[in-house]
Amino acid sequence: MAEPLLSVQDLSVSFPSAAGMVRVVDGIGFSVDREIVALVGESGSGKSMTGRAIMGLLPHHAQMRAARLSFGGQDLLSLPASGWNALRGNGIGLILQDPKYSLNPAHKVGRQVEETLLLHTRLSGAERREQALDMLHKVGLPDPKRVYSSYPAALSGGMGQRVMIAAMLINRPKLLIADEPTSALDRELQSQILALLRSLTEEFGMGLLLISHDLQQVAQFADRAVVMRGGRIEEELASADLANAQSAYTRALWAARPSAKTYGTRLPVYGAGA
Ligand SMILES: Nc1ncnc2c1ncn2[C@@H]1O[C@H](COP(=O)(O)OP(=O)(O)OP(=O)(O)O)[C@@H](O)[C@H]1O
Ligand SMILES: [Mg+2]
Repeated sequence: MAEPLLSVQDLSVSFPSAAGMVRVVDGIGFSVDREIVALVGESGSGKSMTGRAIMGLLPHHAQMRAARLSFGGQDLLSLPASGWNALRGNGIGLILQDPKYSLNPAHKVGRQVEETLLLHTRLSGAERREQALDMLHKVGLPDPKRVYSSYPAALSGGMGQRVMIAAMLINRPKLLIADEPTSALDRELQSQILALLRSLTEEFGMGLLLISHDLQQVAQFADRAVVMRGGRIEEELASADLANAQSAYTRALWAARPSAKTYGTRLPVYGAGA
């Protein structure tokens, strides 16, 4: 059988502390193919560090090791720095929680959406503009030309997040990692953005690793869920089974119904240490 798009085996991430190295990701393994896999778990369980490890974007003082980390059959553990740059430009895209921190306020939207084309292709300015307008249209923005020449401050949160998605998809990555891509938005907008990510994932034949607090949303939009607790994998299950999970931890997450307000706070899970 062919190897999955992304394969992670025995991945650990540690940080130095006064008491020695602390493992925040502790020997986890999972895979993502052309499907939507959700990485869920309480705050501090290691979801973001897992996503960043896959992108080669860990904080500089973090230490990482893995038995295997491969993407499209390519071994990422032996990749030189230039290979990581190419990978981030062409192979894997990352969307973060809040477009306010991801879009540069000093540059117009069009330039930011086109940036990866500028870095990784030889397209002309006119060709880049055409592709950017096409992608702004694909992510459901009305009047792409106006958005193209706007500054981020002129956009609402939902529009900003659509722009981020356009910027990430313009080079047609094979895998998208979306770290809480909607937690700064209201519920109605969250559903719209997740539905958009889902349809684009299918249209482009991508894999999507969706990092989320919100299990009820995950049940609606993902194919499978990997549940993290204290840096380990508590269980892995089909999204359809989340409502009836065996693990008490997963059931507590299911009942917790997080919101933008509770983002970053610890969920009330019985005595669970991170
Ligand atoms: N730069 C850092 N230095 C030391 N420890 C860190 C650093 N960044 C994160 N950690 C620790 O790593 C652990 C995992 O963090 P991570 O950000 O992956 O959690 P998370 O599951 O994404 O949480 P959230 O749902 O709140 O985003 C946490 O205990 C956190 O305190
Ligand atoms: Mg996180």
